Amino acid sequence: MFKPEFLEDVKYFNVGTLPPFSDHKSQYKKTSLNGMWDIAVYDNPSCVPEEVYNGLVSNLTFSTIKVPSHIQLAGFDEPQYVNQQYPWAGKENLTPPSIPKKDNKVAIYKKSVNLSADNLKDRVHIVFEGAESCMALYVNGHYVGYREDSFTPNVFDIKEFLFEGVNEIVAIVPRFCKGSWFEDQDFWRFSGLFRPVYLVYPPKTYIEDIEVNYLLHPNDVDIDVSVKVAGNLENPSLFFSLKGDGVDCESLANTFRVKDIKRWNCEVPTLYTLSVELYDEGKLIDTTATKIGFREIKIEKNVVLLNGKRLIFHGVNRHEFSSVNGRAMSEEEIRSDLLLLKKNNVNAIRTSHYPNQSCFYDMCDELGIYVIDEMNLETHGTWQFEELSNRTDNCIPGSKEEYTPLLLDRAKAMLVRDRLHPCILFWSCGNESWDGEVIKHISDYFKSEDPSRLVHYESVLVTSKWRDVSDVESQMYTKPSDVASFIEEHPERPFMLCEYNHAMGNSCGGLHIYTELEEKYESYFGGFIWDFRDQNIKIGDYVYSGMHTKFPNDDDFCSNGILLADSDKSAKLSEVKHEFSPIKIYIDKENSKVKVENKRMFSATDDHQFSISYLEDGKTFEIEKISLVVEPGSTGYFDIKSPSYFIDRVGEIVVKVSYDEIFSTTCSIRESKAIDTKNPLNNIINDIMVMGSDLSTATVLTRKIEGLPNAILINNKNIIKSKFKIETWRAPVNNDLPNMNVLRWMSYKLASLYSYCDKIEEDNGKILSSIKFGPYQANTTQTYYDNNSFDIEIEPPHFPSDLPCFGLSFALSDEFDTINYYGNVTGEAYSDRKESSILSYNTLKVKDSFTNYVKPQECGNLTDLRYIEIVNKEGHGLRIKTNSIFEGSIIPYDSHELEEAKHIEDLPKHKYNYVRILHGQCGVGGDDSWGACVHDEFLYHGPKEKMIVNIKII
Ligand code: GAL
Ligand code: MG
Repeated sequence: MFKPEFLEDVKYFNVGTLPPFSDHKSQYKKTSLNGMWDIAVYDNPSCVPEEVYNGLVSNLTFSTIKVPSHIQLAGFDEPQYVNQQYPWAGKENLTPPSIPKKDNKVAIYKKSVNLSADNLKDRVHIVFEGAESCMALYVNGHYVGYREDSFTPNVFDIKEFLFEGVNEIVAIVPRFCKGSWFEDQDFWRFSGLFRPVYLVYPPKTYIEDIEVNYLLHPNDVDIDVSVKVAGNLENPSLFFSLKGDGVDCESLANTFRVKDIKRWNCEVPTLYTLSVELYDEGKLIDTTATKIGFREIKIEKNVVLLNGKRLIFHGVNRHEFSSVNGRAMSEEEIRSDLLLLKKNNVNAIRTSHYPNQSCFYDMCDELGIYVIDEMNLETHGTWQFEELSNRTDNCIPGSKEEYTPLLLDRAKAMLVRDRLHPCILFWSCGNESWDGEVIKHISDYFKSEDPSRLVHYESVLVTSKWRDVSDVESQMYTKPSDVASFIEEHPERPFMLCEYNHAMGNSCGGLHIYTELEEKYESYFGGFIWDFRDQNIKIGDYVYSGMHTKFPNDDDFCSNGILLADSDKSAKLSEVKHEFSPIKIYIDKENSKVKVENKRMFSATDDHQFSISYLEDGKTFEIEKISLVVEPGSTGYFDIKSPSYFIDRVGEIVVKVSYDEIFSTTCSIRESKAIDTKNPLNNIINDIMVMGSDLSTATVLTRKIEGLPNAILINNKNIIKSKFKIETWRAPVNNDLPNMNVLRWMSYKLASLYSYCDKIEEDNGKILSSIKFGPYQANTTQTYYDNNSFDIEIEPPHFPSDLPCFGLSFALSDEFDTINYYGNVTGEAYSDRKESSILSYNTLKVKDSFTNYVKPQECGNLTDLRYIEIVNKEGHGLRIKTNSIFEGSIIPYDSHELEEAKHIEDLPKHKYNYVRILHGQCGVGGDDSWGACVHDEFLYHGPKEKMIVNIKII
């Protein structure tokens, strides 16, 4: 019988299950047990009626739940998100392996299944692909077994407990067991049957496990297939075949040579079907057909080679998570994630920090995505505070050998299930679990069991004694310059970043500084951005982040994605796509040449097409197609037209070169020759300064105490909802607080909030004013022209430090909802996140210019602006330029409103659109979100000369 005490017994972690086996594909009949189950939930194991542990559930009162799902999202427990601390922190004082006595919901799942004689003819296995945090199984009142490890399958042979007719399956699934001490990943703390459940009916004797080893020769491969057969046969024999992509090979022996094999890689992920047939006395007993691929990963000197070529990971860390289903992801959701990543030039995924569902690896094999398969192990909360006090005695697993069997069980479950997948290049010993003998055993197990792959563990956590646990140096969040110095000081090992460029909120600045390292150091082989998608739950229109979850929680720290929880586009992703592109195009305007670097390892550039577009003031007027074959690892060139060719055109000429959907870049090859004609006007200036070329259609009013316009009247209707002011503030991005930007910038917040005009006068029809804003002062001049436009000229003061931004801001009524602009059209951008800039004309709605970060913050900034227009549906509004290329945004909120809101639903429901016209703005940073500074070159110091903003009423 199962007893609740087992949950704390380190020796009791896997009882009565079948040994792990490869996820080769069989054709056995299956009965899906997904769908509605009965469920009864108790506060903790001691509240569960004793009879349940004896297998009796008929007296319980059941509700229903859909499987797969988490009980926390189905209303049976409160969801909780914590990062490093354990979910019971501050509530129960525990040391491992003890588990919470009070708050530890136990779900009793029950399902009836009607079985026919045919179902019971051979074997019956029940598979639970994921039960968090563990499960005890009862069938028809008999205790069958128990297993921990939330992220690998639990498979039980239940034939002996079944009968023809209606059978009762019961699973006891507690939220916490001692295994939870090793599941302290930075994620939502869910529980329940969250992956598929099914019955499967293999024959009495069947192919249980397949292992394929091989040796690659230049064109051929020697294959060695080991087959484990369950059951007994009189005179067994096996038959093997390998088919696909021109190969058709059959063999009676388990070792055989196959000629003309193509090697699997992310560019051309060639797969072959390996069929294994099991015969007895010539009679077919069992057959399987599984896709496999051939590739070789090794380290030579200090370089990681895949199929003999230098490997570079352009990777992301991915939690298996959807905003709809949490970790109970459907196959469609997984596939759409992977297609999206592939489309955006991401070539690798680290399964942070646990094995994913089996179908994930099939898809990575098929699509060509490299995988670091990470075992389910993280004990962050056991050492995070100890580390500060230089104590590590409470760290687990450390060298506490009593945990070795429990963790090796997890390592084995992952390796054996997944090893047929060519996509997996590394096994990872888990995340943030310190060092010691136990991690060493895990690494040794991976190395001895599978010498064909490399082993990964983050090295900064381990002292030099344990360095060899990992085959490569792997660090997280190391700044680019520190990566460079580390590699120079320790050239002996390949170097990767298992996490970098922390994408929390408006972040991911400086990604290109990391990709530049690839050029400098052969031993640097890339890394994995943290992380793919915000872990937030969307119910209706409402987004729940960690801050809505039960105590203790870690707020919005689960929102570190390149993508928002429910979107498939972002400016961060555009930058990633650009930086991760294996094809790079450089436009050399001096020589009217284009250079193409094909950084792919195996494919030439004949699979896509190059094109050149010529744009005048952002509008395309000519397109050329180019045929150019650049071999892998080589460089090619072609010509573009020189500026003299465009002598008859007056606008700015931009060349855009694209390699289909993979990479695009633009370059301005000639400035605009157009001249604005406008003549200054004399104006009526009284208490209120009234100016305008035609007072009935366009008038600008400036009150003397304000010094800058407070009204623009079009046909006598004021369109301005918040007066013009000098702008020096941005709503802090997630990185701005921990890196102390906001503390250094405090005076600019005041300057943005409080301003006053201390002097105003008229001079030849111009308005001259002195504006005090916070502790700063600036002189401004307003000049009005006969073309319905006016200039506001600002003489910038000397600022004592770098600042968030500098320019003008004001608000319009929301009838002005359309933005037309000529500038960088890749979406919101910042000085440190605009490598992917494309210069063009664009039009978008104000609401689409706003990014719904769960914690509202600066967003929507457009860069490289030549002009920006904000217009209503009749096309009337304002067209704005400045005396240099500028930045700016038009979004429905003021920076202070954004800053005040803790969560998106806190934003005001007013009807204004805020215009920010900026000379410049600080970069967003991104090396990490807990203190890393914006790189010096992206700090903003204000204009050196006058800023002149020209606003035309259109
Ligand atoms: C790392 C950790 C990740 C995540 C990240 C911060 O230390 O490995 O799981 O917590 O920090 O978002
Ligand atoms: Mg952690």
